[in-house]
Amino acid sequence: MKKVHIKSFGCQMNVYDGQRMADILGEQGFEESATPEGADLILLNTCHIRERAVQKVYTELGKLRDLKTAQKAQGQDTRIVVAGCVAQAEGAEIQRRQPAVDLVVGPQAYHRLPELLEQARARRIVDTDLPIDDKFGHLPAPRPASIRARGISAFVTVQEGCDKFCAFCVVPYTRGAEFSRPVAQILVEVERLAAAGVQDVTLIGQNVNAYHGEGPDGASWSLARLMHRVAEIEGICRIRYTTSHPRDMDEDLIAAHRDLPQLMPFLHLPVQAGADRILAAMNRKHTADDYRRLIARIRRARPDIALSSDFIVGFPGETAAEFEETIRLVDEIGFASAYSFKYSPRPGTPAAELATQIGSEEMNERLYRLQERIEHHRQAFNHALVGCKVEILLERAGRHPGQLAGKTPYLQAVQIETETNQIGDRVQVVIERAGSNSLFGRKAGPDDRAPEELAA
Ligand code: SAH
Ligand code: SF4
Ligand code: F3S
Repeated sequence: MKKVHIKSFGCQMNVYDGQRMADILGEQGFEESATPEGADLILLNTCHIRERAVQKVYTELGKLRDLKTAQKAQGQDTRIVVAGCVAQAEGAEIQRRQPAVDLVVGPQAYHRLPELLEQARARRIVDTDLPIDDKFGHLPAPRPASIRARGISAFVTVQEGCDKFCAFCVVPYTRGAEFSRPVAQILVEVERLAAAGVQDVTLIGQNVNAYHGEGPDGASWSLARLMHRVAEIEGICRIRYTTSHPRDMDEDLIAAHRDLPQLMPFLHLPVQAGADRILAAMNRKHTADDYRRLIARIRRARPDIALSSDFIVGFPGETAAEFEETIRLVDEIGFASAYSFKYSPRPGTPAAELATQIGSEEMNERLYRLQERIEHHRQAFNHALVGCKVEILLERAGRHPGQLAGKTPYLQAVQIETETNQIGDRVQVVIERAGSNSLFGRKAGPDDRAPEELAA
């Protein structure tokens, strides 16, 4: 059998696309291989979000060129494909910088992989068409064996692209305009996943809460309405969604956090910065107080919700005092977790043109301070759960024999000792200890209490 090695960088959309490309290639007789060595086809599914992510791709391609040469010497042909957001942004430039690349295919064109691979036998090919000729309608359904191999949790892309144009961000250029998949198509996909044992789905999109797909009734459905329907699918016990924009947190979505038991109490809601002048310069179109008020409304609907965010430090012109506003916001909200990044100027984005770029030393200091506060709140959130009973969905083997690992509803990893349980079980667990990255628990007894019962 021919072998394909797929390596995905970047966000969950790329993880999903990587799996769908594996499904397409599976139909062409390829089996997936965990390493590039010996593979007939090597596919890098790339990310363009920060400069560092792009450098990684070219470093990786250099190594793959050497592998291709070595395999050629032993009589094996190796073909190299670059997919994902760098493919979209840089197109033919990739093959100019690394001639060993046979094919460049963008995120909205990969359903054409079989024919493109065929054409690439004769000459180098670049396909970065953006208008979606309904890519999703052309993707083969994953086989039950592939679904099972990927585990009981799955991502499902429901929305793609972005019309928001934050001043720092490449996504609107690499993924194109906002597009929502029709409800029926998503339901078929989730039903198929559930039939093969998936219990936990995360609906994903660059702006997932702007979802407005066509419903079976012809009307436009919101994300909340879609999730209520997904929750009816037999076997689906946990639902999440990511990534959301503060401007699209509609009332029905907030209400779903109160009313829909399958919707997990976790929300990733990037705010990026705490100072209004910087938020305006970023073109976020909301203030820090808008965000605070929004969080208050969400917490009224679901008091125990775990909140997460993304932050950028050192956006052009950000003063020391403005950075302190970010710290203040972090300390007020008390995020359960968060990602933080140094601003990276991206070609073609308005912010990259600004003259007031921040120096790297200042940038490092701000990142260090922010991460220290984020880590403090993450630890506090984890420690607050010690002594409480929570439901764990067991997802994989633990670190040691006799251990299984799963996640709390708040998306924390938990290890438990168990002889009788297996992957896929939902177990009531009492958290006994919070380590730096995982929680440790034991199976609960009748007297143990959940956090919401303790709060009452
Ligand atoms: N659609 C999502 C996130 C997209 S990218 C949203 O709107 O929040 C993921 C994160 O990368 C962003 O939230 C942002 O914090 C970060 N990011 C994007 N562009 C960046 C840049 N040029 N420099 C540094 N971080 C960036
Ligand atoms: Fe990028 Fe902003 Fe769109 Fe998110 S909302 S993908 S940060 S442009
Ligand atoms: Fe990166 Fe593209 Fe995702 S730029 S973050 S892989 S949408």
